[in-house]
Amino acid sequence: MCGIIGYVGDKQAAPILLEGLSKLEYRGYDSAGIAVFSEGKIEVKKSRGRLSVLSELTDGGKAVIGNVGIGHTRWATHGEPSDVNSHPHLSSSGRFAVVHNGIIENYIPLKKKLIDKGIKFISETDTEVIAHLFEYYYNGNMIETMSKVIERVDGSYALGILAVDHPDEFIAVRKASPLIVGLGDGENFVASDVTAILNHTRDIYYLEDDEIVVLKKDSVKVYNIDGEEIKKEQFTVNWDISAAEKGGYEHFMMKEIEEQPKALSETINPRIQNGRIVLDNISLTGDDISRINKIYIIACGSAYHVGVVGKYVIEKMCRIPVETIIASEFRYCDPIVTENDLAIIISQSGETADTLAALKEAKAKGARTIGIVNVVGSSIANASDDVLYTWAGPEIAVATTKAYSTQLSVIYMLSVYMADKLGRLSNAEYDKLVSEIKKLPDYVAQILKSKDQVQFLASKFFNSHSIFFIGRNLDYAVSLEGSLKLKEISYIHSEAYAAGELKHGTISLIEEGTLVVALATNDELFDKTVSNIKEVKARGAVVVGVTKESQQHKSDCGDYIIELPGTESVFMPSLAVIPLQLFGYYVASLKGCDIDKPRNLAKSVTVE
Ligand code: AGP
Repeated sequence: MCGIIGYVGDKQAAPILLEGLSKLEYRGYDSAGIAVFSEGKIEVKKSRGRLSVLSELTDGGKAVIGNVGIGHTRWATHGEPSDVNSHPHLSSSGRFAVVHNGIIENYIPLKKKLIDKGIKFISETDTEVIAHLFEYYYNGNMIETMSKVIERVDGSYALGILAVDHPDEFIAVRKASPLIVGLGDGENFVASDVTAILNHTRDIYYLEDDEIVVLKKDSVKVYNIDGEEIKKEQFTVNWDISAAEKGGYEHFMMKEIEEQPKALSETINPRIQNGRIVLDNISLTGDDISRINKIYIIACGSAYHVGVVGKYVIEKMCRIPVETIIASEFRYCDPIVTENDLAIIISQSGETADTLAALKEAKAKGARTIGIVNVVGSSIANASDDVLYTWAGPEIAVATTKAYSTQLSVIYMLSVYMADKLGRLSNAEYDKLVSEIKKLPDYVAQILKSKDQVQFLASKFFNSHSIFFIGRNLDYAVSLEGSLKLKEISYIHSEAYAAGELKHGTISLIEEGTLVVALATNDELFDKTVSNIKEVKARGAVVVGVTKESQQHKSDCGDYIIELPGTESVFMPSLAVIPLQLFGYYVASLKGCDIDKPRNLAKSVTVE
């Protein structure tokens, strides 16, 4: 995700900003920029590309003179990576400069209102709205102006703002995106995380949501949204750089597992406006949808597993035939594709070679293509006719978690959108589905609170040699992901099996003490799955059952039971996958594996 730094003191700001941004590079970014108050105006230097490009542009910061400044590394969400979309963004008069980490969920209506007032926008970003809004409401008082701006903005933000009228200070605020204040000697800082300022100070304030901070070189004052000054507790950070990069977590993977509620909110909320699903600027009309003959979902790995969920969900809601196929198979099977087919291409990185090739194959045969991608401006995003971005932020761990979860949420929204366009949902059904999609972040957060139960189960089974994951229908789809998570980071052999298929051969592998993780979240199939659980238990298996806490007969589905909140059955994969992610993580941790960088694996497989 984006990185922010701000400095005010007696030293030259630009070199300090560049050094701080270099410490934030690990967060993933595609462009960088700084704004410094210099000789009576705000000087902005920014560019697409690595920090080295910005450093060259500013001669290592020496070419930009001034003692107050803000800096930013951008992970593109709205508007692809480019010089003009890079931060900082200026207001029309150039009197205000803004850097932002997060997503402004209502930037479209705000942008429209500002354009109607004659304000000209030059970028495609949501952030530029803040610069113009600040100028529009500015009354000479920075705190009052900031309060007015954040009262009108929905979403997540950490903001840093420079103002020409206030050359010896800058202002910052946060909501849902992290921001810390660094307390120096005759100098002060803000940063997205402590790594950016550890070379200067370890004394910090943690800002809470809607807390506004005004920094001068010899004073730091924090205010609430009503402009009342508040006292902050000072902390001294004793983390090393490596721990700080992971936000205090031992591994990026656990950090990203825990980020899932926020990633889901940021992917879902901008797409549900006034109770209606709004799929960005996707141009899929009701007529287009009614003409779809077949849907292909094409992907690799975990993204393919999202596609298996997608098949069940779209077929159930839309009654359109769906074929989910591994990209490396699709591209070489001379697929039967016509111009009446829709190809949904799922990829976190947007650079997976097999998936990109399969996309081109589907397009060449006339299919319309929609990409579900996490990296803005990536090859698959650019090659798709339409793209629905997941806003999970950069995913550093090789084993995907938050990208997988946000991909699921986009599939759900797309399915409900299409079913609605086909007239297959009553108003009540539509509202219920939309309401449950909006609750997914809270359900996931609730499940994460009981991760110690999963940690206990991992401690019992981390020496297993082979672990089976079974389920029916959507539970089978999630079993595929649970098995891959375990395999790729703990190196334990595992198989996912359709529970009803076990008796056709594989059950011969079940012996005394074999661990079977059985997913039984679907009420209609619960009894059938319990029968399969009894079959494996009869052969000596130990079973961990995953089911809804509301399931009256939950004790029937295993020796150990993981209970989940209940939601629409089509959305249960988003809940059932969480304990499986945690199980893979804890088993791998107990085995001392390299969790973030497992052997033989790459985060993006850009070769065949
Ligand atoms: C998932 O944990 C793996 N890292 C891998 O299966 C991954 O999902 C697959 O390589 C597809 O990558 P993509 O989503 O970037 O296309």
